[in-house]
Amino acid sequence: MKKRIAIFASGSGSNAQKIMEHFKYSDEAEVALVLSNNPDAYVIQRADNFEIPSHIFDRNEFYNTDNVVNILKNLNIDLIVLAGFLWLVPYNLLKAYPNQIINIHPALLPKYGGKGMYGDHVHKAVLANKEEEHGITIHFANEHFDEGEIIYQARFKIDPSDTLDIIKFKGQQLEHQHFPKVIENLLKKM
Ligand code: GAR
Repeated sequence: MKKRIAIFASGSGSNAQKIMEHFKYSDEAEVALVLSNNPDAYVIQRADNFEIPSHIFDRNEFYNTDNVVNILKNLNIDLIVLAGFLWLVPYNLLKAYPNQIINIHPALLPKYGGKGMYGDHVHKAVLANKEEEHGITIHFANEHFDEGEIIYQARFKIDPSDTLDIIKFKGQQLEHQHFPKVIENLLKKM
């Protein structure tokens, strides 16, 4: 039986795209559902292009009902992947999927994590602090933003001439390169 992945994303979904591409012809796993809190998120279009179903929820459904958990359970989802998902995971979902929810963060955690630390906010802070290296972290999700056991990190050196766009691009390249493989390795152990 193929392992089944659900991806949560709030925006563009370039990581979701790479994951859907990676598993499109896999015998081991498949992306079974894409979920978003944002009806305008481009990730929904990307899911449509792969003929992968999607589900959009609002704050009330996510935090005050078991609807999302029930949908995931009914689809026999094995692993939940947060790929640019900006809401905190509620307790009922954490409890239903212990050690089966992973997140990607565009920094070397525990540095530059926490509420409000996403997208350009992260990279601007890294440049303002004149960091010499930067990178990405893939970690298990818990009830706090950007905490939980670290599964994988990849890093790169920051050149003094690097701009915001450059470090953002380098980080994104690392995310696209590593995230699908880390997911594949994790699923092998499940
Ligand atoms: C990614 O860079 C991811 O690391 C970040 O959002 C971006 C989503 O891009 N996640 C966070 O900042 C979580 N705190 P994408 O929609 O193109 O995949």
